Amino acid sequence: MSTEAGHDLNGLQKKWLDAVAATATVDALEQVRVDALGKKGEISGLMKVLGTMGPDERKAFGARLNVLRDEVASAIDTKKTGLADSALNAKLARETLDLTLPARPEIEGRIHPITQTVDEIIAIFGEMGFSVAEGPDIEDDFHNFTALNIPADHPARQMQDTFYLPAKPDGSQMVLRTHTSPVQIRTMLKGDLPIRVICPGRTYRVDSDMTHSPMFHQVEGLVIDTATNMGHLKGCLQDFVRAFFGIDNLPVRFRPSYFPFTEPSAEVDIGCDRSGGELKLGAGKDWLEILGSGMVHPRVLENCGIDSTKYQGFAFGMGIERIAMLKYGIPDLRTFYDSDLRWLRHYGFVPLDIPTMVGGLTR
Ligand code: PHE
Repeated sequence: MSTEAGHDLNGLQKKWLDAVAATATVDALEQVRVDALGKKGEISGLMKVLGTMGPDERKAFGARLNVLRDEVASAIDTKKTGLADSALNAKLARETLDLTLPARPEIEGRIHPITQTVDEIIAIFGEMGFSVAEGPDIEDDFHNFTALNIPADHPARQMQDTFYLPAKPDGSQMVLRTHTSPVQIRTMLKGDLPIRVICPGRTYRVDSDMTHSPMFHQVEGLVIDTATNMGHLKGCLQDFVRAFFGIDNLPVRFRPSYFPFTEPSAEVDIGCDRSGGELKLGAGKDWLEILGSGMVHPRVLENCGIDSTKYQGFAFGMGIERIAMLKYGIPDLRTFYDSDLRWLRHYGFVPLDIPTMVGGLTR
């Protein structure tokens, strides 16, 4: 037994190192630290003995005591890291995440009304046999205008409506598509007939106020085959608006109109009531315009390499924000793009509430 000034420092070192090794939790280890190295700890207590010693003895004893203290302190540190690691590993093993579990809609995110509305539109037209087509947001002049029979001097081409990209070396300018009609052109150019598609997507116009946003969404539809006529157009769109708004007897009116790419053209209005100062869809004496439509202009068919003496059909287009605002009573268009979480919680939709014709659309 090695004794220094009456104290068994080797024995003490072994005692505390054993105590450190024996701990199994961070709390137990902390208790050992306090008992050994804390203010009133056993090793700290020995420091006080130094004051009672003569200079030589103090020097030798002090050095040995420092070694003892450092050994125990570093053993505690090492053990602490080890315990933290095994605690983390145990936690990781315990808290496995099953990523195949469905989301918990009552806690987590909401589906944006735009997405929801697009899903509803797809569900309705999907049931009628339409498929979904998409195209680029940045278009050339041909797909956005020329092929759609929009002549070079047409007002829609002027700077106030269209976002133009910087001119290319040949002087031509790409545009941010001003409608989703170029997707119809792309679909027809592929030449797979007959055609029955809807084209939802982002569109852009130089316009911004309560009811206009420079970026907004449209959905267009296109049906081309040998016998499709205006009667089909009317039946299809009437069924759509009634299904979408969930009002079986919703009055629908077709009003003659003009679009360069359709002939004849018609705007579609739905019946509403504005009398109480509040807008009510359905019964009433008033009308609300929600859709543009028409029989595809023979020149548009020819521009896409389709024989207009054999094929014909109809097209329609509508603003998604507009019909979403009407259906869900959202008063200001700009709030769609604010990413305000409170707004999303209020107007958003539960992710698992997927709209289908069988399961029901959202009302
Ligand atoms: N493209 C038209 C618009 O943006 C909508 C429309 C599409 C009208 C198809 C008729 C037929 O205003």
